Amino acid sequence: MIRLFARPMPFALLLIFASFIPVMMAAVRVLQIPAGWLPEDSLRLSAAPAAHWLHALAGVWFGLLGPVQFVRALRLRFGRLHRVAGRVFVLAGIVMGLSGLGLLMRVESIATPLLDIARAVFSAALIAVLLLGLRAGRTGQRGAHRAWMIRAYALGMGGATVALVMLPLYLITGEALSGLPSDLVFLAWWVIMIALGEWVIRMVSIREFRI
Ligand code: HEM
Repeated sequence: MIRLFARPMPFALLLIFASFIPVMMAAVRVLQIPAGWLPEDSLRLSAAPAAHWLHALAGVWFGLLGPVQFVRALRLRFGRLHRVAGRVFVLAGIVMGLSGLGLLMRVESIATPLLDIARAVFSAALIAVLLLGLRAGRTGQRGAHRAWMIRAYALGMGGATVALVMLPLYLITGEALSGLPSDLVFLAWWVIMIALGEWVIRMVSIREFRI
C-alpha cells in the first residue's frame, strides 16, 4: 500500500483528491465575493472583504500548485517551471497566512478561542516555514527545501481538508458537529495532517518514498 502511494503520480493524485473540496469552495468564493452573492452563513466574513477574497484566491493557487510541485518527474523535466510555480506557491501561502490572520482580527468569530489561537499560530508557522523553504531552495539545500515545503503544505492544507472527516461523521450520526466538539475534531485533524507531513518527510529522507 505504502509503495503504491510512494509513486509520484498516485501521491499527487491523493493530494488532489484530499484538497478538491477546499479548492473548489475557495474558487467559488473568488467569484462570489466581488459579485456579492455570498451564502448567508458566510455573510459575516464580508466585514473584511479584501482579506476574505485574497484568502480564497491564495487558497486556490496554494491548493492547485502544491500537488504539482511534489511530482518529481515534473521537477526534473521542467526545472524552470518548478521554480516559477514555487515562487507563486510561496506567495500564495504567505497571502493565505496573512489574510487568515486578517480574518481572525477583523471578523467576529464563531469558533472557540482554542481553534482561533491554533489558526493564528498555524498561520504564522506557515509563513515562517515557507520562507525557510524558499531560502533552502535558493541555497541549493535540496533535502531541507523539500522537507520545509512538505511541512508548509501540511500546515496550509491540514485544516482546510477537515471535510474529509466531518462529512463521514455527519453521514454516520446524521448531525453536523458544532461548538467545542467540532473545533476539537478540526484541531485534531489539523495536528494529524501536520504529523502525517512529518512522517512523509521521514519516509522521503530514508528513501522509502520518492516524491
Ligand atoms: C494556515 C492555513 C489557514 C488558516 C489559518 C486559515 C484561516 C481561515 C480563517 C480564520 C477563516 C475565517 C473562518 C470563519 O470565521 O468562519 C478562513 C476562511 C476560509 N478559508 Fe482558510 N485558512 C487556512 C487555509 C485555507 C486553505 C488552504 C483554503 C483553500 C484551499 C482556505 C479557504 C478558505 C475559504 C474559502 C474561507 C472562507 C469560507 C467562507 O466563505 O465561508 N483556507 N480561513
